[in-house]
Formats: sequence, C-alpha cells, structure tokens
Amino acid sequence: MKDQYQRVVDYIRISVTDRCNYRCQYCMPREGVEPMPHSEVMTYDEILRLVKAAAGAGITKVKITGGEPLVRKGVCGLIRNIRLVPGIESVTVTTNGALLCRFLPELAAAGVSGINISLDTLDKDKFHRLTRRGEFSEVWEGIRQTILAGIPVKVNCVPMVGINEDELVDMAALAWKYPITVRFIEMMPIGLGSGYTAVTQDEIKKLLEAQFGYMELVKESVGNGPAVYYQLPEFRGKIGFISALSRKFCRSCNRIRVKADGTLKLCLNYEGHINLKQEMRNGIDDRELQQLLQDCIYMKPKCHDFPSRAWPTAENGVPGIFGNGNSP
Ligand code: GTP
Ligand code: 5AD
Ligand code: SF4
Repeated sequence: MKDQYQRVVDYIRISVTDRCNYRCQYCMPREGVEPMPHSEVMTYDEILRLVKAAAGAGITKVKITGGEPLVRKGVCGLIRNIRLVPGIESVTVTTNGALLCRFLPELAAAGVSGINISLDTLDKDKFHRLTRRGEFSEVWEGIRQTILAGIPVKVNCVPMVGINEDELVDMAALAWKYPITVRFIEMMPIGLGSGYTAVTQDEIKKLLEAQFGYMELVKESVGNGPAVYYQLPEFRGKIGFISALSRKFCRSCNRIRVKADGTLKLCLNYEGHINLKQEMRNGIDDRELQQLLQDCIYMKPKCHDFPSRAWPTAENGVPGIFGNGNSP
C-alpha cells in the first residue's frame, strides 16, 4: 500500500531478538546491554500473526534481523512458516555470520531468499578486535558455504576512517572473485556509531574506479532496500552503497520495522508509540490488526532527520541501536 507521501511500503524488517553473540565496537559496549526480559519478546506465533496481517496490508518482503537473529532458537522454523504466508514473496536474513555454517542447511531448507552478512575487515586479528568476539574464519566459511548453496549473498561492510579504509579495494574485489554483492554502508550517527568517521561514497567510488575502471549504475532493482548498485568491468557480482546521511533515500523508503518487543517503528530514528505485541496480547482481532498496520503505514514520517550533533555519543554511553534489538 501507499503512504501519505505516495511511497509504496512493501517491506517489513522484524527483529526477532535484541541479543547478540558479538560486541562490535560501534554497536555495543564491551559488557553488552541489559537484555529484554523474555516475556517482552514477541513469540513466534505473534510474529507469524503479525506477518499475516502485514501481508494483508500489502507487505511482500520480510527481513529477519536482530541483534543476531540466528542466536534465537527455532528461527529457521519461523522463516519456513513466513515463507508459506500468502502474499509474502521473499524472506531474507541479516546476520553477523558466526552461526551461519551451523544453520545454513536449515535456512536453505526453510527457503530463505537471501542472506546478508556483515564483514568489516578481511584481517582476522582486526576482525576479532572490532567484534570483540568473532572468529573471521567461521564467518568466511559461512559466506563460502552460502555461495556454494546458491543462496544470494550480500556482504555488508561499514567503512571507517583509520580502521578499515585501507581494505576497501580488497573488500570490493570479493565481488570480482565471487558472484556476490559487496555493499559499503555509511556509518550512521547512532549510539556508539557516532564515535567514528565514515568514509564517503564518493571517496570509495573514486578509489574503486581508479583500481577497477568505470562503475556503471545498475538501473533495475537488485535488493529490496535503500542501496544503489554498480556494475564494474569483469566483476561477477555488484558493488552497492547505502548512504543514509550523504544521500538521503527517504523519498523512496519502502519499509517499516518492528523491534523484538513488538514496537512498531515507522522510520529509523522515530520512537515507536505502538506496541503490536501488546495490542495482540490485549485481544485485537486479525482484521483490526491489519487496519492498525494500514493506518500506521499511511502515517509514515517523511524523513529520518538525524540530528547530527544532538545525537547520543560514545561519551555519554548510549549503546548502539543494533545492540538494543533495534537494528536499522
Ligand atoms: P536487502 O537489500 O533487501 O537485503 O535490504 P537491506 O539493505 O535493508 O538489508 P540489511 O539488513 O543488510 O541492511 C543494511 C543496512 O541498510 C542497515 O545496516 C542500515 O544501515 C541500512 N538500512 C536499512 N534500512 C534502513 C532504513 O530504513 N533507513 C536507513 N537510513 N537505513 C537503513
Ligand atoms: N551505522 C551503519 N551501519 C551499522 N551497522 C551496525 N551499526 C551501524 C551504524 N551505526 C551495520 C552492521 C550490519 C548492518 C545490518 O548494519 O555492521 O552489517
Ligand atoms: Fe555487531 Fe551489533 Fe550486529 Fe551484533 S548486532 S553483530 S554487535 S553490529
């Protein structure tokens, strides 16, 4: 369906857990964050009911995120059930990749439509430092096996000045060597993320063109999200950019998000006032739930409007929204 600004909203991002097995420096403090009580987390039955209502309201694509979605027991069963909901055309997962090898057979059997994997560096020591817990080899093996399984892979890399800016050509070269998409995501000034300086899309594009040649903009849509994609000479895969700040894509935003506790967020940095889990627990019926979603979608804000300076910083200790089960 369309919102009041004539945007077609057909994509829902659902966080299935606020927990994560990593402690990425730009996302979570070393000690982690206070986990949501289990009773506050939506059950799989509630999530499925929500997806059915969302499908009735015109949603066709579902993204499963976290925290880290694969740490929640039974998530592959949820994906299988969502795949069967009439009207739902794709179910994709965004993961840190740590548990990918373990769950890949189940994810494939569940009919997952694609997997996005975070990878900010190819250096195993740096990887361990950045994630505080991760093993590069496990994630890399997960990526390799996902490619071999024929599931579409997108690698998400957040370029940071002084941290991985020297590796961006090597990261991009993964899409030359393998039939995958490599995307550079501009660091958003959210929580601990505001302590880093992003490398800009223009800088990266210049770097890659000098190395690989002309980057041709891909016109047809590749994903469901806010990324723009380029084809490079002799590359098997594509290069993408998600630049929420330097190139606001709000005008074509197609999504709503639901936090693990059921809070509906109509835009990235707008606090949600409606808790869908609570509505369901209070006895809303299916028709009312669909109507509520339709009304909310219609009211989706025009733009995210990040306040560039007033935002919480690393100094005042506000953890990243990803770590709060509120992933972008
Ligand atoms: P697909 O391409 O369909 O897989 O979707 P996606 O790119 O949204 O998936 P992914 O979960 O890999 O998200 C990648 C990044 O996109 C996130 O880390 C965010 O930085 C950014 N992103 C996703 N949704 C939004 C949004 O609504 N607004 C903004 N500003 N950024 C978003
Ligand atoms: N800004 C941009 N991207 C971020 N991610 C985590 N925190 C931020 C942030 N502040 C990335 C993760 C993952 C993707 C879902 O979002 O690295 O790849
Ligand atoms: Fe890292 Fe945060 Fe994603 Fe966990 S949720 S992998 S800590 S960025």
